[in-house]
Amino acid sequence: MLANKFHRLLVFVLLVLPVLEASVISLGPRHLGGHGIYPLEASVELNITNFDAVLTDSPTTYAIVEFFAHWCPACRNYKPHYEKVARLFNGPEAVHPGIVLMAHVDCALKMNSDLCDQFSVRHYPMLLWGPPTKFVSGKWDSKQEKNEIQPIDDGRTAERLLNWINNKIGRQVINPFPLFLIVT
Ligand SMILES: *[C@@H]1O[C@H](CO)[C@@H](O)[C@H](O)[C@H]1NC(C)=O
Repeated sequence: MLANKFHRLLVFVLLVLPVLEASVISLGPRHLGGHGIYPLEASVELNITNFDAVLTDSPTTYAIVEFFAHWCPACRNYKPHYEKVARLFNGPEAVHPGIVLMAHVDCALKMNSDLCDQFSVRHYPMLLWGPPTKFVSGKWDSKQEKNEIQPIDDGRTAERLLNWINNKIGRQVINPFPLFLIVT
């Protein structure tokens, strides 16, 4: 009897939870209201007018800037993953505030084209990591060897991105994603 219950719980955890989570991920963009108008968005929208000011004022040790284009399908698919991680670090529900500012820049907007050029954006989405102040009037180029700004090469899913961040900050930010999904 007990074994049976345990078995059912195990089946739930192993089979049902991942499915639930996957379905919430895929519902993400709709849930959040479509691109460009994310009322619940935790990552900070940056553009040429606020980029330097927001990064200068950021109390966080690190920043991640996602360069994307609103028309890009890969970016739309990626958005819920990025937001999921951003909610851990930014916004009123953040469980780990003050560590990483997560922001995004729409390179498809004309006003941001110089900004995106400065950071050598050649594909979307592209994620850069560094101390916030290093982005201010900053540049990035893949050929530069010594640079405090560096690309995040493995952030394809929320889990991978969090893993990448954990490695960088040298501690394990616990992944409370299943709980989050119920709250949001
Ligand atoms: C730039 O971003 C800020 C903050 O997200 C926003 O309020 C502002 O409307 C944006 N500027 C333009 C011209 O879109």
